[in-house]
Amino acid sequence: MRARAIPSLLMFSAVAIVSIGAATYISVPRNAVSAHQVTQPLPIPPSDAEARAFADKLIAKMTLAEKLGQMTQVPLNSPPPRPADELARTGSVGSFLFITDAAEINRLQHVAVEQSRLHIPLLFGYDVIHGFRTIYPVPIALAASWDPSAAEQAQSMAAREARATGIQWAFAPMVDIARDPRWGRIMEGAGEDPFLGSRMAEAQVKGFQGATLGEPDHIMACVKHFAGYGAASGGRDYEESNISDEQLWNVYLPPFHAALEAGAGSIMSAYMDLNGVPATGNRFLLHDVLRDDWNFHGMVVSDWAAVKSLTTHGFSKDDTDAAVRALNAGVDMEMSTTNFQDKLPAALHQGLVTEAAINNAVRNILIAKYKLGLFKNPYSDPSKTASLMVTPEQRATARKIATQTAVLLRDQDNLLPLSSKYKTIALIGPLADSKPDIMGSWCLAGHPSDSVTVLEGLHKRYDATAKILYTKGVEIEREQPSIFDEQFSSPKPTMTTDAERDTEFHHALDLINQSDVAILVLGELQSMSGERASRSSLDLPGKQEQLLEAAVATGKPIVLVLLNARPLNITWASKNVPVILEAWYPGTEGGNAIADLLSGDANPGGKLPVAWPLTIGQIPINYGRNLTQIPEAPNTRYWDGSSAPLYPFGYGLSYSTFTTTNLRIAAPTVHAGSTLQVSVDVQNTSNRAGDEVVELYTHQRAGSASRPVRELKGFVRVSLKPNETRTVTIALNTKDLGFWSPQTHHWSMEPGTFDLWAGTDETATTHTTFDLVP
Ligand code: NOJ
Repeated sequence: MRARAIPSLLMFSAVAIVSIGAATYISVPRNAVSAHQVTQPLPIPPSDAEARAFADKLIAKMTLAEKLGQMTQVPLNSPPPRPADELARTGSVGSFLFITDAAEINRLQHVAVEQSRLHIPLLFGYDVIHGFRTIYPVPIALAASWDPSAAEQAQSMAAREARATGIQWAFAPMVDIARDPRWGRIMEGAGEDPFLGSRMAEAQVKGFQGATLGEPDHIMACVKHFAGYGAASGGRDYEESNISDEQLWNVYLPPFHAALEAGAGSIMSAYMDLNGVPATGNRFLLHDVLRDDWNFHGMVVSDWAAVKSLTTHGFSKDDTDAAVRALNAGVDMEMSTTNFQDKLPAALHQGLVTEAAINNAVRNILIAKYKLGLFKNPYSDPSKTASLMVTPEQRATARKIATQTAVLLRDQDNLLPLSSKYKTIALIGPLADSKPDIMGSWCLAGHPSDSVTVLEGLHKRYDATAKILYTKGVEIEREQPSIFDEQFSSPKPTMTTDAERDTEFHHALDLINQSDVAILVLGELQSMSGERASRSSLDLPGKQEQLLEAAVATGKPIVLVLLNARPLNITWASKNVPVILEAWYPGTEGGNAIADLLSGDANPGGKLPVAWPLTIGQIPINYGRNLTQIPEAPNTRYWDGSSAPLYPFGYGLSYSTFTTTNLRIAAPTVHAGSTLQVSVDVQNTSNRAGDEVVELYTHQRAGSASRPVRELKGFVRVSLKPNETRTVTIALNTKDLGFWSPQTHHWSMEPGTFDLWAGTDETATTHTTFDLVP
């Protein structure tokens, strides 16, 4: 083995070129930094020294009970163990969650700040996932915009409403990579790809927090769920994730690192076992990676009851052991259960934990409160809260973003945008006029009465020019209740007998027969996605498929609008229904946005952030996989069907047409540590303004380990006027060409030849090559 130091690469303070046999790696030596390191440690912000000194002074005055109080987060959606006032007054709580009444939040804050011994403010946390009162498209839809600035804007607007209510902490973004659409929480993330996921993660952090923690009208982000939750076995929520080191470092961890690099102030430890060790008791994750490798200085909160459930996992032997293991692994604050408070005093006495470990946890919490400005300005102004909710500006932004996130999957013979010749429009489907269902799951502070359904949106858009005939056709229902039913629920079915259901089904077909065109709004109830909302089938629930097939059989032109947050089985529709518009759960302004899209007032430009399976048996079908034998026939992996997805990652149509040509690179070689300018000409070949996403994919031809056939390494969404041609230049950063090698156990950029494709989905064909050199 030869090794020679090279003076500087942007990524590392100490690197070496190492040759092993015929291969050469640009590598991080083991003695320089951890062998696991994904990328550079995070810098310590200068403001931390001041915050730390402040926190340490306070810690010196705190009793053990006060310290453990700070480390406890109490939910207020059910009666707390002791009255909330008493908890606040005695310093027995550091944070409350699940409270949205601005006056009550402010009142409790007054109690904590004015009546507790050390006057430490409370931190109010909430699941601000895709909006607070105004609801924006669900996170998977934000990713489908392929426009990080749209995701940033949505979360910034959400932060404003939350902060105006007194909430200073969002349990978002969820950055779990998910490659299994059976998993209900695929809706909360950015899909399958670590590069797209990282860009969406950092954008959302900036949206929530602003440029730095503590900005007015902003709140602290909490990146979750650290780590690997998206790989739940079989897509079954909460089941263990078994992830190879290679996949962990190259796929699942990068979005977390990107979010922390963007300044996220906190992170949430996940529920499930990662490779046999529960994430909330996992010192490798919470200490070795997070603190040692990444140098993270923010706070760590457990997921809901995840400390206590270390025992349920068969990991800790009892509540004391759970508290000890979680603290020693690196959890600072316990959500919803009180093992820390109840069990750590005795554990400290027995020497199972140290006072220093407790102080570290408290320090992280106090620093977060300090940086958020809560010691100087703990209160909100509840008299202003109502006027800041669902403002015209919030609505306008929600409507625009909901048009940007929709993905047009099929538009045969340009049926969309709808022609003005259609004077009678049938609007059919169980989701067409449901206010909660257009919002999606995880919008517990949203008011369904604020939201605009598709029926309402179409009435506003078409009442002057066309007649709308509406009915549900069928009703759908979850087979098991949802954990959120009491807080937020979809309308219950109203038809109780088969005869009623049959009559309604035929009524829908009658309306279609009376119309010039029919729009079917199908998909899933909001409660069918999200936490504890995994499925073993991806079929349209209930009798929706039959309704769709019967609608097509009428011979009328049919438009299928999907409201959902995961790929569903639409294989029949993909051949037989002329139009499929994936609108996701578009939020408060969803109905208006869908009317904008159907009418052509807006032009779809979203792209899939996940490959869409052709059959459920293909799962996982993510594009970034390695090739082995017979690469020339990749579509023969099954004898009983295709192994290609129905729609590839990155795919999406527009009412405009585009070409991407003339791919060129600034130089045929690029030095590790620098960037390669990649240019491509994008032309709008239609006479309608529209958006196109230019996507860059690379493939490393050889290395210390096999590399995926393609990896997204750059993208940009551009708006083009009719017939406009634009040269788009994307800086390909060589840092993104590095990977953690399962052969060397190092993160390295390996010199060699790379393929480069530019196009509008992962099947892009415009191709060139370049060489990465030291
Ligand atoms: C459990 C969920 O897993 C997590 O994402 C959420 O933030 C907490 N509950 C609080 O609601």
